[in-house]
Amino acid sequence: MPATIVLGAQWGDEGKGRVVDVFAEHADFVVRYQGGNNAGHTIVVGDRRLALSLIPSGILYPACTLVVASGTVVDPKVLIAEMDMAVEENLDPSRLRLSANAHLIMPWHRKLDAVKERYLGQSQIGTTKKGIGPAYVDKYARSGIRVQDLFDPKIFAKKVETALEDVNRILPRVYNTLPMDGTDIVEEYLAYAERLEPHIADTSLLLWEGIRAGKQVLFEGGQGTLLDVDHGTYPFVTSSNPTAGGALVGSGVGPKTIDEIVGVAKAYISRVGTGPFPTELHDEDGETMIELGGEYGTVTGRRRRCGWLDLVALRYAGRVNSLTKLFLTKLDILSAFETIRVAVGYRHDDDVFHEFPRQQRVLHECEPIYEDLPGWQSDITGARSFEDLPKEARAYVEYVAERTETPIGWVSVGPERSQMLEIA
Ligand code: GDP
Ligand code: IMO
Ligand code: MG
Repeated sequence: MPATIVLGAQWGDEGKGRVVDVFAEHADFVVRYQGGNNAGHTIVVGDRRLALSLIPSGILYPACTLVVASGTVVDPKVLIAEMDMAVEENLDPSRLRLSANAHLIMPWHRKLDAVKERYLGQSQIGTTKKGIGPAYVDKYARSGIRVQDLFDPKIFAKKVETALEDVNRILPRVYNTLPMDGTDIVEEYLAYAERLEPHIADTSLLLWEGIRAGKQVLFEGGQGTLLDVDHGTYPFVTSSNPTAGGALVGSGVGPKTIDEIVGVAKAYISRVGTGPFPTELHDEDGETMIELGGEYGTVTGRRRRCGWLDLVALRYAGRVNSLTKLFLTKLDILSAFETIRVAVGYRHDDDVFHEFPRQQRVLHECEPIYEDLPGWQSDITGARSFEDLPKEARAYVEYVAERTETPIGWVSVGPERSQMLEIA
C-alpha cells in the first residue's frame, strides 16, 4: 500500500492509532493531516501502552518519518511535552517533521474555547477545550499565526499584539473574563521556537519527494467522518476535515497519489461530547459496551456514549471517503451479547431513510430500524485468523461488508498488535 489514508469512519476513537501502528511497520512516513491535540490515539504493544495526541502513530518504528502537516493546528507546548514523553519511553522524536504552514494554537484559543462552551450552556458542543475551534476560526479569518512566524520574532510579536487587541476587546466585555498579556506569551512561544526549529520542514515537498522515490506513506486521520465540519453532524463536529479529502488538502498532496483509503470503525459505535446519535443506548447494553470497551476518552477522560453499529452512517462514511476497505475494531466487545443489533435504516414520521439524511433534524428525532443478528458469546480474543472466529462472528463481519458495500480487510479482537486478523 504505497500511499494509504487511514481515517475514522464514525465519531472518532475507532482505534485509528492501533491500526496505524500495525500498518506503519512498512511505512516510511506517517502523516497527521488535520486536527490537533483533541485527538487521543492509543497503541498497545505487549504490556506497553502509549497515548499520543499529535505525534503520528508510527513512532514505534525507528525508520519512520513522522510528519505533522500543514492542515493541523499545533499547540507547541503539547507537542514538545509529547516529544519529551517519547524520549522517556526510549523513542526517538528527532525524525518528527513539522510543517512551517501549520497554524499555532495560542493561549487565547484555549481560553476562548473554554469560555464559549461555558456560555453556550445546554447547547454546548462538548469540545475538548484544547483551543481547536478558535484556532481554525483564526486560520479561516486569515488572522492566524503560523509555525513559520515563530522564526521571525519581530513579526511574531506584532501578530500576537494584533490578535490580542481583538481578543482583549472580547474577553472582558463578552465573556466577563480577564484580558491577556502578550509579553509573557511572546517569550513563552519564542522559547518553543528554539526547541521546534530542527523539526521544521516543507512537509508537502518532503512527501512529494518520498512518493516519487516509491516510499510508503500513511496518512493518519484524527477524529472521524461524522465529526467532519462539512460532512459530519454539524454543529456538533470538530473544526477540520477528517475525511479523505482533508488528507489531501491538509498534507499538500494530490488525489492521484492515493492508493488505498481505509475506514476504521468499531463493531459498535461511540461518541464523546454532545450531538445527535440515533443508536445511542441508555440501558444495560450501553453500560456493558462502556465498561468492557473501556470507553473513556483518552484526552479528557470523559465517558463515551455508546450504541449499536449504525450501518446507515457507515455506508455514508464509505461514500464520502471513497473507502476501499474497512477495518473493524473491538469485535471482542460484542462477545458479551446474546443478540447483536445493527441499525439498517432510520424511521422519522412517515419516512424511512436507508441513506444518511440530509436534514439534521432527522438524526435528532429518528428511531433506528434494527436487524438482530445472533451473538457468539464466547471469548474471541485469542483468535489469530478470521477462520478462528465462531461462525456467528464471521457472519456479523460479512453482513457489515454487504450492507456497507465495502470489503472488510481486517478485524481486531483486542488492542494488542497480535490481535488483528487479516481477511483474505
Ligand atoms: P483512536 O482515537 O481512533 O486512535 O482510538 P482511541 O485510541 O482513542 O480509542 C480506541 C481504544 O480501543 C484504545 O484504548 C485501544 O487500545 C482500544 N482498542 C483498539 N482496538 C481494539 C480491539 O480490537 N479490542 C479492544 N478490546 N480494544 C481495542
Ligand atoms: P480521535 O482522533 C472523539 C469531539 C469532541 C466534541 C467535538 C468538538 O481520538 O478520534 P473539538 O475539541 O475538536 O472542538 O471538539 O469533537 N472530538 C472527538 N471525539 N475522538 C476524537 O479524536 C475527538 N476530537 C474531538 O468530543 O464533541
Ligand atoms: Mg481517540
